[in-house]
Amino acid sequence: MKTVKGTRDLLPEDTYLFQQIEQRAWDHFAKYGFREIRTPIFEETSLFLRGIGDDTDIVTKEMYRFKDKGERDITLRPELTASVCRAVIQHNLVGAEDILRLMYSGPMFRYERPQAGRYRQFYQFGVEVFGSQDPLVDVETIEALMSFIAPFKLPNLELMLNSVGDETDRPAYLKYLRQTLNSKRELLCSDCQNRIDNNVLRVLDCKQSNCQSHLQDLQPISDFWSKENRDHFESVCSGLKRLDIPFKINPRLVRGLDYYTKTAFELVSGDLGAQSAVMGGGRYDRLIETLGGKDMPAFGWALGLDRLASLWSTYADPEPGPDLFLIFGQRQWLDTALPWIASLRRAGVSVAYDIRVRSFKSQMKRANRENASWAGIIGEDEHDQQTVALKNMQSSEQKSCKRSDVAATIKNKEIPC
Ligand code: HAM
Repeated sequence: MKTVKGTRDLLPEDTYLFQQIEQRAWDHFAKYGFREIRTPIFEETSLFLRGIGDDTDIVTKEMYRFKDKGERDITLRPELTASVCRAVIQHNLVGAEDILRLMYSGPMFRYERPQAGRYRQFYQFGVEVFGSQDPLVDVETIEALMSFIAPFKLPNLELMLNSVGDETDRPAYLKYLRQTLNSKRELLCSDCQNRIDNNVLRVLDCKQSNCQSHLQDLQPISDFWSKENRDHFESVCSGLKRLDIPFKINPRLVRGLDYYTKTAFELVSGDLGAQSAVMGGGRYDRLIETLGGKDMPAFGWALGLDRLASLWSTYADPEPGPDLFLIFGQRQWLDTALPWIASLRRAGVSVAYDIRVRSFKSQMKRANRENASWAGIIGEDEHDQQTVALKNMQSSEQKSCKRSDVAATIKNKEIPC
């Protein structure tokens, strides 16, 4: 038996990276006032139909949709923004004067064609901010993202920014696009021909170079922005500049989900091949209302953990080994040492040993292979005197140490005995 196409097991070397990223994220975003929300993995299908948009690829082609035994129409979540909005409405989480900041992490499901960096079960970490249309929210939430990403020291990352307008100015642009593209219909790929009728904005980010060559002289959406939306975009840009956050305005950036209004952005990597987006997000001021809530502006983004982990794997420090690897002359000395080993672990020291207690040489080899910081050798003398010969694996310095001093020695990283 094997994993289903498009899914994969995350093995310990993968989960180590995922855990590091997630732990850093929980800590980092908590400082900005984000609190975690967990919603179910599956929801009523209608949530995603209404939330993400009937004509998006996600809804038309990619949903894991099924009838449960109670004949309910259910879908495995392809993303979390719609679910979080559902929860905000259901539990009335945002009062009139409130700003609510939520964060989440977990698996998402999309029936996409699998390729490097694209899975049918993948993982996102994301944040959503509800209750303000102030461009400062866009700026501070992008800043939070960029200062989270910076310590990973990834080269070749670029922040792409655009505004997709809203119901006040976008219809005129869509009309312009439909008219102009209709006259070139035959020159475009069959997907784009469909998009002209169903979701014309998406023609702009068609990956086919032939289509792109026919889009060169199209007017950008910025020519159609209302004064309010232009002001919003300019405030976001000047806020980012004030914070020294580099970005590139990309007038062709449109997102794969219909709910965006005004700011849309992506972080793209030159090191990821075709699936270059590490994360994406933007403002979605109408979604809560579309889903039956009150009029409530919102902003958020989601980071692809699979893609971030894959980029970081080249630069991440290796997983640290145990603090202490114990080496025994005889198996029964391990048995008698067990209460002491348990006390070390309670004191916060990570301890490993070879349960089979093979030759000294093979135990020492294993201490090296496991990248232990210290080796603790228990030969006849150490067993009799209840001591341990403690060896610093980096400096090779070795001294006899009372067992009761071992935890403190390891924590102080020196041998006082
Ligand atoms: P999205 O652009 O569809 O946005 O997904 C965000 C990120 O998830 C992508 O940039 C990518 O890194 C990762 N991702 C998406 N699909 C896959 C896949 N099949 N395999 C691996 N990684 C993938 C959203 O999902 C929005 N909910 C983001 C958002 C939150 N907007 C506002 N708030």
